[in-house]
Amino acid sequence: MKFDISAVDLYYGNFHAIKNISLGIAPQEITAFIGPSGCGKTTLLKTLNRMNDLIEGFSVKGEILLDGNDIYEDRDVNLLRKRVGMVFQKPNPFPMSIYDNIAFGPRTHGIKKKTLLDEIVERSLKQAAIWEEAKDRLKKSALSFSGGQQQRICIARTLAVEPEVLLMDEPTSALDPISTAAIEDLLIKLRDKYTIVIVTHNMQQAMRISDKTAFFMLGEMVEYGNTEKLFSKPKEKKTEEYITGRFG
Ligand SMILES: Nc1ncnc2c1ncn2[C@@H]1O[C@H](COP(=O)(O)OP(=O)(O)OP(=O)(O)O)[C@@H](O)[C@H]1O
Ligand SMILES: [Mg+2]
Repeated sequence: MKFDISAVDLYYGNFHAIKNISLGIAPQEITAFIGPSGCGKTTLLKTLNRMNDLIEGFSVKGEILLDGNDIYEDRDVNLLRKRVGMVFQKPNPFPMSIYDNIAFGPRTHGIKKKTLLDEIVERSLKQAAIWEEAKDRLKKSALSFSGGQQQRICIARTLAVEPEVLLMDEPTSALDPISTAAIEDLLIKLRDKYTIVIVTHNMQQAMRISDKTAFFMLGEMVEYGNTEKLFSKPKEKKTEEYITGRFG
């Protein structure tokens, strides 16, 4: 599925968090959002599956099309969130067992058969590189796991419903290098089937896995293009300063 974002402005009350952004997000590619803290990456990402709807004072101007349909005109937000899954910056497992965390989405969508749920749980935990640590503790509370393990449980929970788009907000910032590499490998594998957007503060990560990169500053998109080009030959001075570590 593809996103066409055109002339989008996002506001928290009077605060103008995202300013007139137009951007296409293509399927079978990984798009990275980079930029200094507070520039609006999470705000824009959450808007793509309407996770900001509940924030008081939040408003959207412009148009966000998903395969041609305006996501803010479609009334079925649950369907949107099934198709567009999100992994948050901070791990947020539900206060229930690992098994129930992963089975939660599939159950909501009507899957009841135990053998099928077992399969989904195992497949998702394996994909998220947490199966080995979790397989003997499936009935234990997800909250009894470490932060990095919880993040991988949350990634598994998102994958369990087989979304078509994956939005990932700094999914590896709490992970060790081995789990980070596993998640990066997973994203590269999933790229063939999914549309993936990843927010990252890790330039190497953006270079390793993304096809396109968008660089934001103070709510504006400074530069967008092929990752390799943007990092090797940025068009804008600000981009160059940021990626070479001169600020941010
Ligand atoms: N719920 C909210 N209410 C009001 N302002 C908010 C809210 N959430 C974020 N903001 C503001 O919007 C701006 C963009 O925030 P956002 O979280 O999108 O930044 P970010 O690029 O994801 O930063 P980071 O890299 O630190 O995660 C910031 O100035 C932030 O303070
Ligand atoms: Mg953020």
